[in-house]
Amino acid sequence: MQTNFEDLISTFLEKGIGVSNNFLSTDLALQLKLNLVALYNQKALKRAGIGNGYVSTKDKKIRRDKIFWLDKKDNNETELLFFELIDSFVLYLNSTCFTGIKSYEFHYALYEKGAFYKKHIDQFKSDNGRAFSMIMYLNEGWVKENGGELKIHQKLEVQIISPENQKCVFFKSNELEHEVLVTNVSRMSIAGWLKTF
Ligand code: OGA
Ligand code: NI
Repeated sequence: MQTNFEDLISTFLEKGIGVSNNFLSTDLALQLKLNLVALYNQKALKRAGIGNGYVSTKDKKIRRDKIFWLDKKDNNETELLFFELIDSFVLYLNSTCFTGIKSYEFHYALYEKGAFYKKHIDQFKSDNGRAFSMIMYLNEGWVKENGGELKIHQKLEVQIISPENQKCVFFKSNELEHEVLVTNVSRMSIAGWLKTF
């Protein structure tokens, strides 16, 4: 676990984008994926918007994922394990990097075939305290032909990250523009934000 945290933080400090390939254990990734698939089949996922309100036609031009917010109050065994992992990561991050993270929010996301998320940054105009973005992928056997990469635009280069099972990506929410390229198959993840208040 510690090694994964170190991987994520050291690559972040080095390149501005942290990547850990095994942040989620195979079992946790599988159980989370099964939860997400069940929610999808129950039609519990909702079209995501770009503000906080209803989803407009403009929103649909920008993003096409469907989401479900995780909530400790749901008392789901697997999600509680996920939150334990995040809690220990936040503790590690705060104690090694003095980041002062106080809270977080995470949602499941499912991009159906053909879905995408155009270039954006993760902080709304009115500051919502989002300091770091974290995305974890739940896609076994992902191949290049599937598309659906995360493309991050840095000042001097562009990073293309494929949404492989168990991988976690970590970056500052207020500066890096990024997008999700069109996926050719259903693409599953948990996306979230570590917040300073
Ligand atoms: C987001 C986002 C990237 C990804 O949800 O804001 O940029 O790879 N997700 O799913
Ligand atoms: Ni984003």
